[in-house]
Amino acid sequence: MDKFDVIIIGAGAAGLFCAAQAGQRGRRVLLLDNGKKPGRKILMSGGGRCNFTNMYTEPAAYLSHNPHFCKSALARYTQWDFIDLVNRHQIAYHEKTLGQLFCDDSAAQIVEMLMAECEKGQVQIRLRSEVLSVARDDAGYTLQLNGASVQAEKLVIASGGLSMPGLGATPFGYKIAEQFGLKVFPTRAALVPFTLHKPLLERLQTLSGVAIDTTIEAQDGTLFKEAMLFTHRGLSGPAVLQISSYWQPGEQITVNLSPATSIDEFIDVQRAAHPNLSLKNSLAKLLPKRLVEVLQEMGQVPDVTLKQLNSKQQAELAQTLHQWRVQPNGTEGYRTAEVTLGGVDTTQLSSKTMEARQVPGLYFIGEVVDVTGWLGGYNFQWAWSSAWACAQAV
Ligand code: FDA
Repeated sequence: MDKFDVIIIGAGAAGLFCAAQAGQRGRRVLLLDNGKKPGRKILMSGGGRCNFTNMYTEPAAYLSHNPHFCKSALARYTQWDFIDLVNRHQIAYHEKTLGQLFCDDSAAQIVEMLMAECEKGQVQIRLRSEVLSVARDDAGYTLQLNGASVQAEKLVIASGGLSMPGLGATPFGYKIAEQFGLKVFPTRAALVPFTLHKPLLERLQTLSGVAIDTTIEAQDGTLFKEAMLFTHRGLSGPAVLQISSYWQPGEQITVNLSPATSIDEFIDVQRAAHPNLSLKNSLAKLLPKRLVEVLQEMGQVPDVTLKQLNSKQQAELAQTLHQWRVQPNGTEGYRTAEVTLGGVDTTQLSSKTMEARQVPGLYFIGEVVDVTGWLGGYNFQWAWSSAWACAQAV
């Protein structure tokens, strides 16, 4: 049987980084993955350019049943530490928007960087590895793989969440947590597009591809100011992905379709200049024409000229456009979700090392843990920070 100091399951963002760091500390590390390539989500991320961190990373950008848990790791290995590493590997990058850092060329550079760091730490990587069972005894952890068994004093679970099963996602990490008596919070797809009920979808489908700047609000008052995109299935774009993490089935979302311009003031100015202009054509100066047409078909924009629009109608129109209420039918689910909410209960883990308090030698890092970031590089930063914290301890 092959023996190691540390076995890490999952060669994604967290697993690769943890393996590299632990290896460079002189630990003999085996990194296992069920796929044929390491870092598959990294390769797909950020439209192939990997939004690898966010300059404004702070604990408030993370959802968890235990919001304080992420603070220690994020403070000890920060976005600036990861940016330093990217600089050392001479990977060119840029800020796209809102502190989001993307590679200029390709996400593959981040995987190559992590692989180079693993090589520096003499990490042994075994791909296409199925873990059939995990057992714990005095010597540590023994894993039955397809065709071999391996043993280590420390076991790190970095197998990620459930989003995008096509990229190798499995519930493995949650099952191991349960096997060792840890609580797992129910999971659900997050950073995910909304689907709509058929009648609304049929009306809005013709807007597929149209994007507008919005502020979007969940029923709990959480608000994001980003773009919303109409799609042939429903609603997407950064604003919608963000708010999906705060939305519960059955709830409405409220969208301000004109966050930068007061509808009331706009109409007053327009009416003074062009009283005989139709309201529809007037609003088309502010919003995509097709959107205005659809809202008129839905009876939300009166079919009148500006001088015919009475003050009650104007007030209702302003309310409709500034507080457009939509009740999503659901989300597109794990198939297209960027992340998974919920996961291993953090109250059972050390925030300093990520070790399970009641199960010495067992660690959980990255997305499998009940810590989920906003869209914009926050989830990779959690992967790096939690991996680093763990790597100092294993
Ligand atoms: P990750 O999912 O990266 O890795 C888990 C690994 O474990 C995988 O390699 C998997 O094959 C392996 N595994 C699973 N089950 C196993 C088993 N039973 N046995 C062995 N191995 C197993 N975030 C961000 O900050 N910026 C971005 O630009 C993006 N973009 C983005 C795009 C897309 C399309 C998706 C799906 C996600 C993103 N994300 C993102 C989110 C980000 O990718 C995610 O949060 C991190 O990859 C999580 O890192 P982990 O290492 O925890 O899991």
